[in-house]
Amino acid sequence: MELRRFLLVGFVLLSVIGNCYARFVVEKNSLMVTSPEKIKGTHDSAIGNFGIPQYGGSMAGAVIYPKENRKGCKGFDEFGISFQSKPGALPTFVLLDRGDCFFALKVWNAQKAGASAVLVADDIEEALITMDTPEEDTSSAKYLENITIPSALIEKTFGETLKKAISGGEMVNVNLDWREAVPHPDDRVEYELWTNSNDECGVKCDMLMEFVKDFKGAAQILEKGGYTQFTPHYITWYCPQAFTLSRQCKSQCINHGRYCAPDPEQDFSSGYDGKDVVLENLRQLCVFRVANETNKPWLWWDYVTDFQIRCPMKEKKYNKECADDVIKSLGLDGKNIEKCMGDPYADADNPVLKEEQDAQVGKGSRGDVTILPTLVVNNRQYRGKLAKGAVLKAICSGFEETTEPAVCLSGDVETNECLENNGGCWQDKIANLTACKDTFRGRVCECPLVDGVQFRGDGYSHCEASGPGRCKINNGGCWHGSRDGHAYSACLGIGDSKCQCPPGFKGDGVKSCEDVDECNEKKACQCPECSCKNTWGSYECTCSGDLLYIRDHDTCISKSGTEVRSAWAAVWVIVIGLAMAAGGAYLVYKYRLRSYMDSEIRAIMAQYMPLDSQAEVPNHVSEDRA
Ligand SMILES: *[C@@H]1O[C@H](CO)[C@@H](O)[C@H](O)[C@H]1NC(C)=O
Ligand SMILES: *[C@@H]1O[C@H](CO)[C@@H](O)[C@H](O)[C@H]1NC(C)=O
Ligand SMILES: *[C@@H]1O[C@H](CO)[C@@H](O)[C@H](O)[C@H]1NC(C)=O
Repeated sequence: MELRRFLLVGFVLLSVIGNCYARFVVEKNSLMVTSPEKIKGTHDSAIGNFGIPQYGGSMAGAVIYPKENRKGCKGFDEFGISFQSKPGALPTFVLLDRGDCFFALKVWNAQKAGASAVLVADDIEEALITMDTPEEDTSSAKYLENITIPSALIEKTFGETLKKAISGGEMVNVNLDWREAVPHPDDRVEYELWTNSNDECGVKCDMLMEFVKDFKGAAQILEKGGYTQFTPHYITWYCPQAFTLSRQCKSQCINHGRYCAPDPEQDFSSGYDGKDVVLENLRQLCVFRVANETNKPWLWWDYVTDFQIRCPMKEKKYNKECADDVIKSLGLDGKNIEKCMGDPYADADNPVLKEEQDAQVGKGSRGDVTILPTLVVNNRQYRGKLAKGAVLKAICSGFEETTEPAVCLSGDVETNECLENNGGCWQDKIANLTACKDTFRGRVCECPLVDGVQFRGDGYSHCEASGPGRCKINNGGCWHGSRDGHAYSACLGIGDSKCQCPPGFKGDGVKSCEDVDECNEKKACQCPECSCKNTWGSYECTCSGDLLYIRDHDTCISKSGTEVRSAWAAVWVIVIGLAMAAGGAYLVYKYRLRSYMDSEIRAIMAQYMPLDSQAEVPNHVSEDRA
């Protein structure tokens, strides 16, 4: 069973790699040696898939090849090496050898020592490859985020040329150029993000989600201004023919094995299945299509970020129901989206997903998409850290010179998305309260803080005042009423407890509290001498003759106070008497039992040791006296 599971996963992966290997395209930037004279020339270098490449720009520097720690797998401080360039000097490009540790670690170590860029020299003769980020390695996840310098892999022979020149005492200057990394033919940039709705795949998923949230604001401005045409894409795999009827393929795929995604927890028997991920991916594609048809393609960004926040796997909300709520709050046409999704159980192609599988395969200069997430700008795969500033730079470098929009030049990204449909967030129109906040990341739905009172809730469908002082705001959302100079409120004002009708009222406490008719419902004032009159929120009780009504005991007594008239009082006397008698009997019993046990213990102890007649029986033994 375990074995088959691994076999299957292996098979699926193999078929993917086998399919794509030949078309893997490495995104390059050019590296120009500007001095010394005899090795001048331009070489290819492959941009690392982390750090921040200077898309659209270039960077000049002086190359240093350290004397020790040449693979850069250890911190350079251990060797007393620093690459910090002196003020006014060219930035330092550190040349390192490939091997022994992650590429990202080499770059991180060099950055910490003050390097401005890293060149990694390949150790075998081969075509350039992309230096990718390590997968799901939590110790590297910590520094990956912080790599800001660009890096590139260079060919072995070119590396040797550089090393020779440096060891010969020459000053080697280079220029790393990203200006042609992205084609820039016209005034509109087409870009794609190959993404995934799975929110539990570790470091890469977290980075992707963070990026989408961060980039949303800029993406929406570019799209609304007509500067870009963005298309989201989702990778799916197919189940090998021989396995389509297996349990594994059934749980990972839809449309009879045609479209699959890996199981989120790598456990076929629990949690969400790959099939759930494929379905949500399909829904997100259809959200885009439907939004695009109504000329609001940017709503995809809102849907995807809201879905992440409102429907995470962790809270077991990664499902259709939750997705439908998000669709509704954004004012999208749910029926059209369902129509677009089609029947996942049909033994037939799904046109939307079929197109996605076709687009995965590269054509011409366009490479296959094999790394998730992948950003493609003007048909070139973006390499580098998936972060707002770096990606914006890459997209901006895709405009023909002088046609770039203002955001590219100023970097400020501002609109107020709360003005339209309240951004799809919670609002209370009567009290003029909203959960919509406009930020540089686009709008977020967060319950507000009003007059020092924090509202809590999901920010989308509900928010309510909580904590002390919550009754100040709109009476905490609870019922309140006043009549004849009496005011009552169902807001308790302590803790976060819900609304509760005050004594003398009944109801849900939110919409209504109704007066309780204590007289008719026989709640009080029922003694034979009593006469009852209901009032709003309370009652009045009077006693016949010269008797006095005692509200606490709900009874009538004579004014002298000695004569207890109520039957209840008599009952109380009897009950208390009985209780005292029982208590006394119990104490006597306890006392006798105890003295009996004492004497019993004494008798037993006496058999083992001489007892002083006055000595107390010890209740614990601290030493072993044997
Ligand atoms: C990365 O940067 C953050 C914020 O600047 C810092 O708190 C964190 O310690 C850094 N991580 C490492 C591994 O240096
Ligand atoms: C989105 O709409 C534009 C124009 O309305 C169209 O050219 C483009 O192909 C559409 N994209 C998709 C994925 O349907
Ligand atoms: C609601 O509040 C906002 C700011 O808190 C204010 O600008 C706006 O005028 C208010 N609207 C109404 C109808 O009171």
